[in-house]
Amino acid sequence: MERSLVLLKPDCVQRRLVGTIISRFEEKAINIIAMKLIQVTPELSKQHYAEHVEKPFYPGLEEFITGAPVVAMVVEGLEVIRVVREMLGATNGLNAAAGTIRGDFSSSRQMNLVHASDGPEASAREIDLYFNEDEICEYTPTLTPWLKAGDE
Ligand code: CMP
Repeated sequence: MERSLVLLKPDCVQRRLVGTIISRFEEKAINIIAMKLIQVTPELSKQHYAEHVEKPFYPGLEEFITGAPVVAMVVEGLEVIRVVREMLGATNGLNAAAGTIRGDFSSSRQMNLVHASDGPEASAREIDLYFNEDEICEYTPTLTPWLKAGDE
C-alpha cells in the first residue's frame, strides 16, 4: 500500500468542484484516510513548494494557493501515487488528455485544480507537512473483497 498527499486547490474549492473530484477518487476505489479544509499560509506554501520557490512563477503560485482554502487529503491504495497522478493528467490543463481530471475541468497551467505527490519521498514529506499522525484514520473498506482479488 502507498499513500499520497492530495490537495484540492483554491480554484477547485471556489468552482464548487470538490464533490465532483472526490467522487472520481471514490469511484476508482481509492481510500481517503484523512481530509480537512485548511487555509495555506505563505510559510506552508514555501515549505510545500520548496523546489519552486526560486522559479519566476513562484510569487503567482503562492498568491494563488493562499488565495482561498484548500481541501487536503491523504489517500491510500496500491500504486496510488502513480494512479492519482495519471488520473490528474498533465500539469497544464490545456495539455491534459480528455478523461483526466485536468483534461476535463481545467484550461490553465497554474489553476490545475488538484495537486498530488509525485513520488514516495515527496509523499512522506508532504503528508507530514499537512497532517499529524493522529489525523490519519486507517480503515478497511467493507467492499474490499469486491474491489480486487485477494492476491492483488
Ligand atoms: P502542482 O502539481 O501543484 O505543482 C506545482 C504547481 O505550480 C503546479 O501544480 C501548478 O499549479 C504551478 N505551475 C507549474 N508550472 C507552472 C508555470 N510554468 N507557471 C505557473 N504555474 C506553474
